[in-house]
Amino acid sequence: MRADKPRSWHIGVIGGSGLAAGIALDDAQDIAVSSPFGAPSGPVTTGRLGGVRFTFIARHGAGHRIPPAAINYRANIDVLKRCGVTDLLGLSAIGSLREDMAPGSFVAVDQFIDRTSGRENSFFGPGLVAHVGLADPVCPRLAVLAGAAARRAGAEVYPAGCYLTIDGPQFSTRAESRLYRAWGADVIGMTAMPEARLAREAELPYALLGMVTDWDAWREGAAGVEAADIIAVMHANAALAREAVRALAASLPPVREPSPIDRALDSAIITAPDAHD
Ligand code: ADE
Repeated sequence: MRADKPRSWHIGVIGGSGLAAGIALDDAQDIAVSSPFGAPSGPVTTGRLGGVRFTFIARHGAGHRIPPAAINYRANIDVLKRCGVTDLLGLSAIGSLREDMAPGSFVAVDQFIDRTSGRENSFFGPGLVAHVGLADPVCPRLAVLAGAAARRAGAEVYPAGCYLTIDGPQFSTRAESRLYRAWGADVIGMTAMPEARLAREAELPYALLGMVTDWDAWREGAAGVEAADIIAVMHANAALAREAVRALAASLPPVREPSPIDRALDSAIITAPDAHD
């Protein structure tokens, strides 16, 4: 029998491009946490913001050295879970597939299309089979709180959007970019999957604030995406993201009510109970 989560919040933050240096936390401590799933992207930093516990990990590691397809997503989620995180916020640079979602704006993502391949995307496998529900992959409570916090920090925030994940590391061709638009994707990035899948398997309510850095390659007559163009926008976005995390800490209800996602595995494990412990 698994214990219920505590009634106090402990927010895990996975910081993407532009946030490798972390977020400022009070009484911050760097801790190397090991995982049976291998090496995480680096140590976690744990501390407090306005009395709320936050634990941060840099998705691409110190100095942004780990490319999207080489990130050990399982280890990153596992070490945050081991630290006692109750809810998980991802922060990621994204490209826009829509005219209105301009560089500099934020998107509280609510859906995903996964075009990645070859990434370890489950904690389960032979011996213990589980099929967790992923129809609604984002926690609406955390997404609303995070979106409102980003807005209070001064960002323009879209309250929903479908994020298409590519393997990268190259950006998309114009034909791919137009195809993804036709599929109904709103934004594009390289890291949200399998992160969101694994968060659900770990019973961690997950939300993703995407920070738009560019318009991807679909626009007629516009230049394609170049990493150098993205970097300036990314730094401005990162400053806003740090403010958004502070605002989130200030806006969390004093008591964390349970979420149905806290028990996502209750109906997911197929292997007979006598075949596992
Ligand atoms: N991250 C930021 N911009 C991106 C884009 N256009 N495609 C994929 N990942 C991105």
